[in-house]
Amino acid sequence: MIHNTTMNSPFALVIFGATGDLAQHKLIPSLFSLYKKQQLPEDFSVFGFSRREFSDEDFRNYFTKFQDQPEWEKFSQHLFYQQGNFDDPKGYTDLIPKLEALDTKMGACVTRIFYLATPPQNYEIILNHLQSTKLSEGCGQGSNKWTRVAIEKPFGKDVATSKMLDEKLSTIFQEEEIFRVDHYLGKETVQNMLVFRFANSIFEPVWNKEYIDHVQITFAEKKGIGTRGKFYDGVGILRDVGQNHLMQILAAVTMDMPQSFSKEGVRDARAKALANLQTIEPEKVMENVVRGQYEGYTKEKDVESHSATETYVAMKFFVNAPRFEYVPFYIRAGIEMPENVVEVSLVFKQTCHILFKEIGCPEEGNILTIRIQPDEGISIKMIAKTPGSALALSTVNMHFSYQEEFGKQGIDAYEKVLLDIFSGDQMLFNRSDELSSSWQFIENILKGWEMSNAKPLEYKEGTWGPKEAQELIEKDNRKWIE
Ligand code: BG6
Repeated sequence: MIHNTTMNSPFALVIFGATGDLAQHKLIPSLFSLYKKQQLPEDFSVFGFSRREFSDEDFRNYFTKFQDQPEWEKFSQHLFYQQGNFDDPKGYTDLIPKLEALDTKMGACVTRIFYLATPPQNYEIILNHLQSTKLSEGCGQGSNKWTRVAIEKPFGKDVATSKMLDEKLSTIFQEEEIFRVDHYLGKETVQNMLVFRFANSIFEPVWNKEYIDHVQITFAEKKGIGTRGKFYDGVGILRDVGQNHLMQILAAVTMDMPQSFSKEGVRDARAKALANLQTIEPEKVMENVVRGQYEGYTKEKDVESHSATETYVAMKFFVNAPRFEYVPFYIRAGIEMPENVVEVSLVFKQTCHILFKEIGCPEEGNILTIRIQPDEGISIKMIAKTPGSALALSTVNMHFSYQEEFGKQGIDAYEKVLLDIFSGDQMLFNRSDELSSSWQFIENILKGWEMSNAKPLEYKEGTWGPKEAQELIEKDNRKWIE
């Protein structure tokens, strides 16, 4: 059994890729925020492991945007730096005495957490060195009790590589020590979807094909790839957010009620939901999936001039579950979009009741929208009487906002991810079977694109993607919700 850390248990967190985007924009800011909220133990150390020749001081000064905050000075004393090349054992062996010094200081084994925040091509070499230097075994050598590994997405690049990575991990760590990160699982609204669905008795009875016409998911970001060309090119949006964040949102919408609100109860339900996705046969991909690329993409830094990497995808598919039989799911995800929005909408069947046939019903009926960001919340479109002496109907909106109701945005997803790793709680982390199903779904699409040899369709920056994405849904007499 893994040792469960309480909030007060000391830990040593080693971040590989500590000067990279993720550490800079998410991990260190989240740690600092947890520190300010007094959610970290008194004794904790963060070791940044990267190639640059930095001293501890340089590393602390690297995060310039926090320097003027009064708590930073104290917090940064917990930050240390380990220079190392991922493929050279030296950095790893240099780290050993530093970690051992913590054990000595505490008079006990301090939990060691290895966070792989590097581009995925480095995972294998880092894991190999963690194993060969026995860092993976932690302080109770041979017992593995005091270590954990957190591994970022993309977890592999298809079914086979994801399986290989999993096999590698399992030769080094026990399953209870492996945290396959998808920070969308840590998002307040994604978690709330389960509460909303299963704690309110009024929604589950209509969460099925009798009432739902179709489901839409939109994942739109205004930004382009910025300085991430090296990572993004060759990966694309389908692997970057489709295989993980979108699949997990989908699982939250389609899963059956978990047997229990326990780690395995929830993971079983998620895994089953993902296994139920009806994969799109490669021959049918061109008909059901639209692949786009924004116009200026190939001019971006670190992008191949003839790159066929997609920055937009829209698709239609079905879910193999009796409750969703024949209910189409439409998903679109893109960057360089007109706005930042991630939301799910369940569009209910609009059957104009005979009572109102004569006066006419609005075209739009009930739509339940769960907004994941920004302005986290839930809204329901309903039909109401338009005020006035004559009877007329129109669609109105009922809205619940997290911000208005609770006055704060809740905990940030990466703060949740980190807290759960520190306390050893794996409920909101991927299990291998979830990954294998989501990769199967994504791999079929990739195969279809490869077979077709077609290039991505261009779209203008600041628009909702190629016109073919509109056609994909409009040919079914439906439309994307704006
Ligand atoms: C990351 C992707 O996993 O998620 C990014 O690599 C994406 O491309 C990001 O922008 C979105 O996360 P969030 O929390 O900002 O919605």
